[in-house]
Formats: sequence, C-alpha cells, structure tokens
Amino acid sequence: MTNKAVILAGGQGKRMKADIPKPLFRVLGEPMLEWVISACESADIGDICVVKGFRGELIDEYVGDRCRTVMQEERLGTGHAVMQAMEFLEEDTSGNTLVLCGDAPFIDKKTISDSLMLHIQNENSVTVITAELENPQGYGRIIRVKGGISGIVEQKDANEEQKKIKEVNSGAYWFRTADLVEFLKNLTNDNAQKEYYLTDTIAIAIAQEKSAGAYKSSNADIIKGANSRKDLLELNEYARKMIIEQHLENGVSFTCTDGIVIERGVEIGEGTEVLMGTVLKNRTKIGRNCLIGPYCILDECVLGDGVVFNTSQACGAKIESGAEIGPYVHIRPDSVIKSGAKINDFVEIKNSTVGSNTAIAHLVYIGDSDIGKKSNIGAGTVTVNFDGISKSRCSIGDYSFIGSNTNLIAPVSLGKGVYTAAGTTITKDVPDYALAIERSELKIKEGYTLKKLKK
Ligand code: UD1
Ligand code: CA
Repeated sequence: MTNKAVILAGGQGKRMKADIPKPLFRVLGEPMLEWVISACESADIGDICVVKGFRGELIDEYVGDRCRTVMQEERLGTGHAVMQAMEFLEEDTSGNTLVLCGDAPFIDKKTISDSLMLHIQNENSVTVITAELENPQGYGRIIRVKGGISGIVEQKDANEEQKKIKEVNSGAYWFRTADLVEFLKNLTNDNAQKEYYLTDTIAIAIAQEKSAGAYKSSNADIIKGANSRKDLLELNEYARKMIIEQHLENGVSFTCTDGIVIERGVEIGEGTEVLMGTVLKNRTKIGRNCLIGPYCILDECVLGDGVVFNTSQACGAKIESGAEIGPYVHIRPDSVIKSGAKINDFVEIKNSTVGSNTAIAHLVYIGDSDIGKKSNIGAGTVTVNFDGISKSRCSIGDYSFIGSNTNLIAPVSLGKGVYTAAGTTITKDVPDYALAIERSELKIKEGYTLKKLKK
C-alpha cells in the first residue's frame, strides 16, 4: 500500500505583483512549496505529484527530480487541478492520497500522520483536514453530521446559519486513492463559477454510500496562506517567532528578537546567545556558549563552541571553537578559521585558512592563502592573489610576524617564524626564521615645505 500526495501549485498570485508562481514565494528563505514538500517527506510520503500552472517551468526547475509534475493548462478549479494528476493516481490505487495546497506552508507532520490514522481507522473514503477559526470568512465551512460530515459549503454558497460555522476546510484532504479516481470522474462544473470543485467529492462519496469524515487539527496555522505581500510578511513573522521559540526551548538565549531571522534547519547549541539583527541561513550550525550578533549574517557556516561573532558576515566558512570574529569582518566561502584565532576590524578572508591563535586585527585582505598558527598579520597586509588573469596562493608559516602594509605577490611561500618589515613587497619565497625587508633609503629634505609656501 503506497500513500502519496498531490500538491496544487498552479496559482499565480496576481496580488503579489511578480512573475513567479505563488508557491515559490519564500517564507524564511524557503519557497512555500518547499515547506509543503518537506512536510510530506517528514511524514514518509515521498511519492509526490505537483500540479503546476502559471509559469510551470519554474516549478519544474525548483523541484528537479524530487517530485513529478503535471500541467494544468487552464485554471478550472481545485477538482480540475487534481484531475490533471489522474495518471499518477491510477498507477497505484492501493493506498491513500493526500491533497495539499502548495501555498499553505505550515501543514505539519503531526497533522498529516494523525489525520491519516483517523482516515484509516474510520475507513473513510475522504477525510477533510479542518481547523477552527475565530474568523472563518472566505473559507469552505464543514457541515458535521452524526458519524462524519455531509459536505463543505463555500462562503459564497453559505446561508446565514452556515456562515456561523467556525470549522473550515484547510484545503488538505486524505482520499482513498481508488475512490478519488472514481470521484474525479464524476465531478462536474455545474455551478455558478463553472468550476470543478474538489469539495464536491464529499457529496459524491455520500451519494455512493461511502464515508466522509473530518480531522480537526489543533494547529489552526495549517490554514495560513498568502495572497498578498502583506500576507507573506505575516507568514514570515509567524514562522520567525515559531523558530525562535524552538531555540529558546533548546537553551538558546535571546534578550530581544528584533531583526533576528533564523531559517529552519539551523542548529544552535545550548548556552549560546543571539543578539539583535542576526540572520542565520542555510543550515548554519553553531556550537555551545557562543555570542552571535548584533547585526550578523551567517550563511551555510559551521561554528564551534565559544565563538564570538560580532557585527560581521560569513558565508560557507568553518569557524572553530574560541575564535573571535568582528566587528566588521567579511569571511567568504571555503575559509577555515582555526580555534582561538582573532580577526577584527575591516578584514576580508576568502578561500583561506587562518591557523589557531593567529591574530589579524585590522584592515587586511587574505585571499587564496594558508596562514599557520600563532602568527600576527599586521594592518594593511594584502595577499595579491590575482594578476588579472589567474589566481594563485600564498602561504605563511607558524609563528610569523607580517609587518604592516606587507604585500605578498602570489604565488609565494613564507616559512615558519618569518618576519617581514613594514611596507615590504614579497615577490620571492622566504625561508624559515628569516627577515624579509624591501626598503629604499628614506630621504629627508629639510625646509622643503617652507620654500613651497613662500612661492
Ligand atoms: C478552497 C476550498 C475551500 C477551502 C480553501 C482553503 C474549493 C472549492 N474550496 O478555496 O473550501 O476553505 O481552499 O484555502 O476547493 N488551484 C489550482 N488550480 C485551480 C484552482 C486552484 O491549482 O484551478 C490551487 C490554488 O493555487 C491553491 C489551491 O488550489 O493552491 C486552492 O485554491 P484557491 O482558489 O485558493 O481555493 P478556494 O477556492 O478559495
Ligand atoms: Ca614597498
């Protein structure tokens, strides 16, 4: 018996005023469609068919070979959308099919699994996933009867009594797959909108003396969707708070949450404190007892324990325990900052390794380079890694002292314990324990300025 899912993702989102399908709008950095697909996957439903419509090629591009897709050429209603997946449904009708909206991102594993359990226990043909809303305006209302439900009444078709019902259709359903195939064949567009309503399957099931039920989710947020940018902002706000709450439970500290955006999948160790304006993206992992922020971006990074990361940005970097970064540091991809290193004001590091306990305190560019441990890199040091055509590497050994304003013209290699004099341009390799100094004689012309001023 296979359980599978059909996700409706044909919407355009005209009110968003953008040229992408609505389910690709992002909540905390991930398309809404991703939230829905990953909820299915977390509930062990891997066989997924996405119904695309508006700019379907962008949906294909996003899902790749993770899901199958089918095209709904014309937007003729939710029932018509599911009909497009007929081939997918008929391939294996032994189990159940979950139908979901691709623009309601907060459907969760528990709701999916618990509703399936109820669906199977009650031997339902269809189980509507519902929730209770204080303001049910606009949603299909659930008509409960003894032993199940008798139908779903859309807002525009509801009478005054029905409009008072607060239990609404989330737009998600479990169907016995074999029955869904039959129901879809019986759907008509015999209504004012001339649309094929998926909700009509309830009446069809009952007419065929099959049982229709409802599973009321305790999480009313599963219904939340976005029709406008304002709605999308609300979804982001909601998700942001939800994720911060999870980290609070895990022992992470926040004194305030202003401007803190933490994507799903980010890990933060106990005792770490996150300060305002911190953005944590793409499965960044942070160890214990770190101090992160204020005003930081960490994107796809791994941080050890006890790292201080203050008003800086890093992308694709590994920062080991006890390192101290910031303020105003930019660490770019493929960099490794080893334990206890200190990197401070206005330093940029790219595709480089900085050894443990090395200090780079101010105004430095390190690109395509390897620096050993316990070295000191003076202010204004630049690795000259690009000759206009290709990039080359520099290396600096352990216990070195690079004087201020040293240029290292790559490729060049300095041994351990090397000193460079301030202002030196290094064009040759330097052996261990040597001093490299490149100076022309300093000339002083006394009284020069006075003569000039007289003129
Ligand atoms: C539908 C339900 C309503 C429920 C609500 C929950 C019907 C008739 N009504 O309302 O009971 O409370 O969802 O949000 O089903 N879609 C397509 N192709 C279409 C039409 C819709 O792919 O031809 C997709 C939309 O992009 C969206 C989903 O189906 O993801 C729901 O469509 P929408 O128009 O928002 O649903 P409603 O009719 O408002
Ligand atoms: Ca010089």
